[in-house]
Amino acid sequence: MGNCKRNCCARWWGSKTTSSTKLLLFMVPLIVVAGLVSVLGTSNTSNWVFIANRPFPWSSSVDLSSSMEVSDSSGKQREGVVDIRSRAVVAVDAHDKEEKAISDDTLLNHSLSPIQTVQQLNISEDTLNVSKIWPTIAPMNEPFLPLTTPRRERKFSILDRTEAGLLQARAAIREAKNENETADPDYVPVGPMYWNPKAFHRSYLEMEKQFKVFVYEEGEPPVYHNGPCKSIYAMEGNFMHAIEMNNQFRTKDPEKAHVFFLPFSVAMMVQFVYVRDSHDFSPIRKTVTDYIDLISGRYPYWNRSLGADHFMLACHDWGPETSFSVPNLYKNSIRVLCNANTSEGFNPAKDVSFPEINLQTGRIHGFVGGPSASKRPFLAFFAGGVHGPIRPVLLEHWENKDEDMKVHQYLPKGVSYYEMLRKSKFCLCPSGYEVASPRLVEAIYTGCVPVLISEHYVPPFSDVLNWKAFSVEVSVKDIPNLKKILMSISPRQFIRMQRRVGLIRRHFEVHSPPQRFDVFHMILHSVWLRRLNFRLHDDQ
Ligand SMILES: *[C@@H]1O[C@H](CO)[C@@H](O)[C@H](O)[C@H]1NC(C)=O
Ligand SMILES: *[C@@H]1O[C@H](CO)[C@@H](O)[C@H](O)[C@H]1NC(C)=O
Ligand SMILES: *[C@@H]1O[C@H](CO)[C@@H](O)[C@H](O)[C@H]1NC(C)=O
Ligand SMILES: *[C@@H]1O[C@H](CO)[C@@H](O)[C@H](O)[C@H]1NC(C)=O
Ligand SMILES: *[C@@H]1O[C@H](CO)[C@@H](O)[C@H](O)[C@H]1NC(C)=O
Ligand SMILES: *[C@@H]1O[C@H](CO)[C@@H](O)[C@H](O)[C@H]1NC(C)=O
Repeated sequence: MGNCKRNCCARWWGSKTTSSTKLLLFMVPLIVVAGLVSVLGTSNTSNWVFIANRPFPWSSSVDLSSSMEVSDSSGKQREGVVDIRSRAVVAVDAHDKEEKAISDDTLLNHSLSPIQTVQQLNISEDTLNVSKIWPTIAPMNEPFLPLTTPRRERKFSILDRTEAGLLQARAAIREAKNENETADPDYVPVGPMYWNPKAFHRSYLEMEKQFKVFVYEEGEPPVYHNGPCKSIYAMEGNFMHAIEMNNQFRTKDPEKAHVFFLPFSVAMMVQFVYVRDSHDFSPIRKTVTDYIDLISGRYPYWNRSLGADHFMLACHDWGPETSFSVPNLYKNSIRVLCNANTSEGFNPAKDVSFPEINLQTGRIHGFVGGPSASKRPFLAFFAGGVHGPIRPVLLEHWENKDEDMKVHQYLPKGVSYYEMLRKSKFCLCPSGYEVASPRLVEAIYTGCVPVLISEHYVPPFSDVLNWKAFSVEVSVKDIPNLKKILMSISPRQFIRMQRRVGLIRRHFEVHSPPQRFDVFHMILHSVWLRRLNFRLHDDQ
């Protein structure tokens, strides 16, 4: 596996903690910002207020106007405890309108807990169809912090200003639904591939306008500020590289940041920290724990949100396991994971499904594009090892069983994998050892309609994309009927799906430097959406 230093980085950025140390223990100053519309919460005595369970800002069916920012209305808010992952919801008077909340917010007497609070917002529902996923997530019962805290007077801070920007973004996204399309020189999302193309576009533009990411400078390569840029874990290095080199979204001033990036690579830890074949996870666990201790000791940001505005990423199968090292990292932080397995605690409302892209050469050049339906003689194609629980079933039923179904463990000599993708109408993407499969993106690149065969998997960008419009989902128990299911899709429907695959392809393309609406920006947008979904309160 190559790393980005060699393969895709123009410049090395292993710099140490110079400017950032000056910001050490930088306390949020009490800045009175006259005229600022307050976004402060009122008598909210719990540290986490969880108001919604379907949090994203677009929906085809829900009246968005009544769905956000009502938490504090009239101070009558019933506080709940407060676990970002629990389904237990603070009952909120849904009929109170946002205006009420805002006017309440403008009252200056707010009591706040001694640490800043995180408030989960009901921006909307149904963007992400999480309803069927939630019940599988075990509720966790421990409250984070004492529920009652002394009342204090407060003033506006930089954080409040940041939050005011987010408030405005939420409102704009909500509005977008009723507005005309926004012009865009590069791309205007339209079509049934999007849950709500206008809201997505608006959200994307708002992200470009204001989203800021602070990358902790602590840590040295190879484990920090570095990651593979080839192999199936390539997205770790790729994203890390792209965000560190980015001038638009990266800020060097942590006070201005909406989110904080923990720049470690799980694939690199497996290579350099884990002792091969030891089955001992503790060195990795210690690496993560030490890092969180370091940044939470040096900066105030981790403690103020208990990690909720921090994100990590991992394409390696062990990403979830690595995040378990620190309970707040697992419970509160945004985890960008390829292994987006809801049975292992992946929470689609808080975590981000990270596309797994096998970049053999570090680039996508030469892999993108494929012929139309009429030039695709095979119905379905799969080739790959017997990994995990699903593939044995697939191979048992379909390996060498049917001329139309090209299902192989090993490709015959002289047959090109990429040629097969281009000659097939449907490309099968069964989970392997982890739920994600790089085949998904390979199919999309080559114009083959992906067939997802997985359990507990949340596909990338499901908060924005309606996968049903351009892919087929087949449950494991339906594997024996696979051919029948695919044959039942009419040629017209197939052509429609294939065209949509071509249209959403841009969201999976890897570019260096990144281009608008490409995979880097979509991942960032997923993080932005999760950040939009809660509100931080100051503790001053
Ligand atoms: C928040 O979401 C819940 C669950 O979907 C819903 O029942 C409730 O009405 C929403 N609250 C508001 C204020 O829209
Ligand atoms: C604001 O708080 C102060 C002291 O905490 C209290 O005396 C005053 O009455 C409060 N004002 C309002 C409008 O609640
Ligand atoms: C959400 O999922 C349910 C059941 O899985 C399905 O009936 C419904 O159509 C989905 N809604 C959206 C918006 O996809
Ligand atoms: C939206 O589009 C309609 C029809 O094209 C047009 O009449 C209207 O003026 C547009 N509204 C705005 C705000 O641009
Ligand atoms: C954050 O909390 C930890 C543990 O409670 C503490 O050791 C650390 O000093 C705190 N950090 C700051 C900046 O106050
Ligand atoms: C997802 O997680 C569950 C629970 O740990 C596990 O049984 C299942 O095998 C995982 N799926 C994959 C494909 O790894």
